[in-house]
Amino acid sequence: MARILITSALPYINGVKHLGNLAGSMLPADVYARFKRAQGHEVIYICATDEHGTPAELAAAQAHQDVFTYCEEQHAIQHRIGRGFGLSWDWFGRSSSPQNRALTQHFADVLEDNGYIEERTDRMIYSVHDKRFLPDRYVEGTCPICGYRPARGDQCDNCGSLLDPVDLIEPYSAISGSAELEIRETRHLYLLQTKLADEIRAWVDTKGEWPQLARSIAYKHLDEGLIDRGITRDLAWGVPVTRGGQPRPGFEDKVFYVWFDAPIEYIGATREWADATGADWERWWRLDKGANDVRYVEFMGKDNVAFHTVSFPATIIGSGEPWKMVDTLKAFNWLNWYGEKFSTSHKRGVFMDTALEIQPPDCWRWYLTANCPEGSDTSFTWEQFQAAVNRDLADVLGNFVNRILKFCETRFEGVVPAGGEPGPLEHKLHSDLSAGLSELTGQLEAMELRKSAQAARALWVLGNEYLTEAAPWTAIKSDPARAALIVRTGINLVGLFARISAPFIPFAAEKIVEAVGEAYPPAWPSADAAAELGRIEAGRPVRAPEVLFRKLEDAQIEAWTAEFAGG
Ligand code: MF3
Ligand code: ZN
Repeated sequence: MARILITSALPYINGVKHLGNLAGSMLPADVYARFKRAQGHEVIYICATDEHGTPAELAAAQAHQDVFTYCEEQHAIQHRIGRGFGLSWDWFGRSSSPQNRALTQHFADVLEDNGYIEERTDRMIYSVHDKRFLPDRYVEGTCPICGYRPARGDQCDNCGSLLDPVDLIEPYSAISGSAELEIRETRHLYLLQTKLADEIRAWVDTKGEWPQLARSIAYKHLDEGLIDRGITRDLAWGVPVTRGGQPRPGFEDKVFYVWFDAPIEYIGATREWADATGADWERWWRLDKGANDVRYVEFMGKDNVAFHTVSFPATIIGSGEPWKMVDTLKAFNWLNWYGEKFSTSHKRGVFMDTALEIQPPDCWRWYLTANCPEGSDTSFTWEQFQAAVNRDLADVLGNFVNRILKFCETRFEGVVPAGGEPGPLEHKLHSDLSAGLSELTGQLEAMELRKSAQAARALWVLGNEYLTEAAPWTAIKSDPARAALIVRTGINLVGLFARISAPFIPFAAEKIVEAVGEAYPPAWPSADAAAELGRIEAGRPVRAPEVLFRKLEDAQIEAWTAEFAGG
């Protein structure tokens, strides 16, 4: 039994997320969390909404709401939709919580005590028309790297470059559109990452087991050289800047930068959870309080990796305090929509709310896991989605479950039959299954999501092949004991498939488990197939479940293709 802390990148509060956000952080974290819980480990999966900064303020303004009400509503919406997808968060917190405010102010204090924070005078963009500074996304303009317009002040959506608002060509205010901008001086706190660079690199050097994408991004940033980073902003919405619990003189109208407080919310949300449930958060996060035996795994999209391998570690290392740091970091590429970005404004792609309205969560979960953007960017297509639902789920898994349970209902009165001895066909099945089970477990351990889905599917296929070859509908005429053995084996296969499928498709797995009278959530199987296929014994009543997966007609696929094409 190990203790495993799992987090997925905190989704921005600014509206319902698209399928790419789900596929590249929250869903794989959930699959992994369910797998680890099924193995009997003690797991917490923590997530939250990332509520501060310009994205929240701008979205609230667009919705004509005050930012506080906006965040409260959007948090509730994201929470409900996430649960609808079966995301098994132990806590879904809010980075605007009092717990996170206290932690963020604490980290700033100890970093300053240790000489890693310095006040500097900055030259920032000021809008004469809006009578305020315009940090980050409040300025838009042409990207100095690729020429894309409108690029945002903090990052270009086209080429992905991290930007400084003053670098934008022909900038204008995102609030009013006014181009009457000046550079004015303002004081800010800087985190002296340059002083911490060697320690951060030494720490990354110990992380040989990180998956490749995360490692290469971390080293790219370290090799380019770290810069000292402004961690405060001229904004109203965020964690107030304090020193020793008092407002910091000269910083009364400033808050911490959203990327400073957001990762701290991993800890903050765990405290929210502990405060709500009476659990002990320190044994997950404080090395001096037992967190030494915790394994901490983070899931995120590739644009988040630098923040998690360099910036957040700078906060933690610079604190000099015994905080738990990430052990394994699993990063994903982009899921695109037919080669283009998902876009709310262009109505391109499916967002999480609509997805749930048109298809059951398991169909999305299966498709998005089996096709997740693991090795490279990938594109969603409705044809692939249709194939994943019709072939994998309906034809292979659903059909198998139904075939054997219906047969048991009609020929054995819905009771697992006794009799018969395993023969050569069963011995071959046992050895094939054992190999397949170790493959699946190994791929899930390695967090190889696509290969895990393939391995699960390969096991379902083995079941179908066995049933076709063993042909109980023929055996029943000549050798009833043999037919009984085949049916018993088939029902055990159904139980086994529910167990291995539960991390991917928990809703269907629950129905299947119930159909064969097993407990939910089921435990993860060993690789000893012969033993695993002896669990469900003769005499147990079973029944065929309602239709598990409905097939998608071509006409439906055509209609959706047109509806979500954007433009
Ligand atoms: N909200 C950020 C994004 O969607 C991710 C924040 S991850 C955190 O890109 F750890 F910083 F919270
Ligand atoms: Zn660009």
